[in-house]
Amino acid sequence: MSNLLEIKGVSKSFGPVHVLDQVDLTVAPGEVVGLVGDNGAGKSTLMKIVTGMYSADAGTITLNGEDIFHHSPGERRRMGIEMIYQDLALARQQDVAANIFLGREPTRSVLGMRFVDRATMRRDAQAMIDRLGARLPAINRPVGTFSGGQQQSVAIARALTFNPKVVIMDEPTAALAVREVQGVLDLIRQLKSEGIGVILISHRLNDVLSVTDRIVVLHHGRAAANLTTAETSMAEVVSAIVGGVDMAEAAAHEARG
Ligand SMILES: Nc1ncnc2c1ncn2[C@@H]1O[C@H](COP(=O)(O)OP(=O)(O)OP(=O)(O)O)[C@@H](O)[C@H]1O
Ligand SMILES: [Mg+2]
Repeated sequence: MSNLLEIKGVSKSFGPVHVLDQVDLTVAPGEVVGLVGDNGAGKSTLMKIVTGMYSADAGTITLNGEDIFHHSPGERRRMGIEMIYQDLALARQQDVAANIFLGREPTRSVLGMRFVDRATMRRDAQAMIDRLGARLPAINRPVGTFSGGQQQSVAIARALTFNPKVVIMDEPTAALAVREVQGVLDLIRQLKSEGIGVILISHRLNDVLSVTDRIVVLHHGRAAANLTTAETSMAEVVSAIVGGVDMAEAAAHEARG
């Protein structure tokens, strides 16, 4: 499978602090890659470098083979890189349709004046929700009245309207009740089935193990492990997170003297 997004040798320092050290990470179409690591390991920083919010000190990033480093965050978004931040950035007082089209409301012209076309907006928003298979109580309610999982669904539906090739999600299930987590994991599976590449940042390793194809572990800014989910275990992921060492290998080494 050829790669959609390719991160190679990315390094980043904030002043004297080295936050990322020659990190590699790839995502293929329809692949879900987990990005895990301790607090401060560099996960969010790496993804902000992908979106263009931060610049890197070294390395390359390509999308479908095209270098994106010289593109602005807005251009990268148009190229197909979409990130959903932990705070979701939703307008809580506005309804679902307004949030999905925030800042890009469809308009129609009446007697030469432009008006927001609410009927079209509502219809298109509903179509996006249906495409995702998301369950929402009512499309015309302020999203601030929705549960965390429902708000996450709105944020994912909004991301979809940008026709993304890669969707990056930073802790989408962190604040959710157990029942809602499954709903969000199903939305991730839906993105995957549409051929979208997904990068999932999460501390909830059960979620990561259940929904990803591959898991990249960052440890002190280095890619300490790149594991195939079907062939790894919770223990292996945890040991890479805490020490960047393979516990079984370390034990075998110890035994050999
Ligand atoms: N704008 C910044 N200026 C200075 N240091 C920063 C900045 N952003 C991040 N850092 C530092 O970079 C390191 C990595 O932070 P980052 O937010 O990428 O970690 P993370 O893996 O996302 O952690 P968490 O799981 O807690 O979200 C931390 O030591 C953090 O303090
Ligand atoms: Mg983070």
